[in-house]
Amino acid sequence: MKGVILAGGLGSRLFPLTKVTNKHLLPVYNKPMIYYPIETLVKAGIQDILVVTGGNSSGDFLKLLGNGKQFGLKHINYTYQEGEGGIAHALSLAEHFVNGQKMVVILGDNIIQEDISSQVHHFERQFEGARLLLKKVPDPERFGVATLRGKKIVEIVEKPKKPKSPYAVIGIYLYDAEVFNFIRTLKPSRRGELEITDVNSWYLKRGVLEYDFLKGFWTDAGTFESLHRASNLVARHEGYQAS
Ligand code: DAU
Repeated sequence: MKGVILAGGLGSRLFPLTKVTNKHLLPVYNKPMIYYPIETLVKAGIQDILVVTGGNSSGDFLKLLGNGKQFGLKHINYTYQEGEGGIAHALSLAEHFVNGQKMVVILGDNIIQEDISSQVHHFERQFEGARLLLKKVPDPERFGVATLRGKKIVEIVEKPKKPKSPYAVIGIYLYDAEVFNFIRTLKPSRRGELEITDVNSWYLKRGVLEYDFLKGFWTDAGTFESLHRASNLVARHEGYQAS
């Protein structure tokens, strides 16, 4: 299983913090933000990792992460997203690296407490398709939202004004390599981005979308409120096993 970390984009919601640097290099409590998704993948046994970066200071990722030695990795791979074409666009740059295998995709600003090894094992046993991780949240309108009927997801809507459920689709996605064929057919949304929710809805329509609930805390860190919350959560949770 390959690991892909999406750390492109311009971080405009964190301006001026991101005026001269990259959002994923900002501190979350005692470490740069990008450390957390790397640690999440490594804890789940994923050793072959690509970081898709972009925007400001992308060269600083090399200086910070080097060949990944401090995470117990033999090497780490990098690529560069020009502009801010959306999450699915950033993922499309990983096709060559993934080379037909299954993958775990994680957004560079998503911070979780739980070890996702069991969800990764579920996906290894899943014949085809995709697997999402859901979390009940008080503010679903900020995220992709999944509506459940029985044990099935029946709809996913990106940032709905009136969410039909409290279940956010968190920024960790398990995909088979078919994802790249679909992204090639995607058209930009009204905000000019290739949307990851369109990718997930495509798997849903094909009947090959599964999910697990995430235990432990989860937060994004892309706004002032959530960046602050991320630092507080990491600082507060004695159980957080960061290396
Ligand atoms: O955090 C989970 C949420 O992330 C999901 O529930 C939503 O469905 C999903 O669309 C996304 O929403 P955001 O609006 O919070 O995504 P944002 O634009 O902040 O991008 C999140 C990360 O994705 C960012 O830290 C880096 C990566 N990214 C984003 C864009 C737009 C890229 O690598 N390239 C990009 O062009």
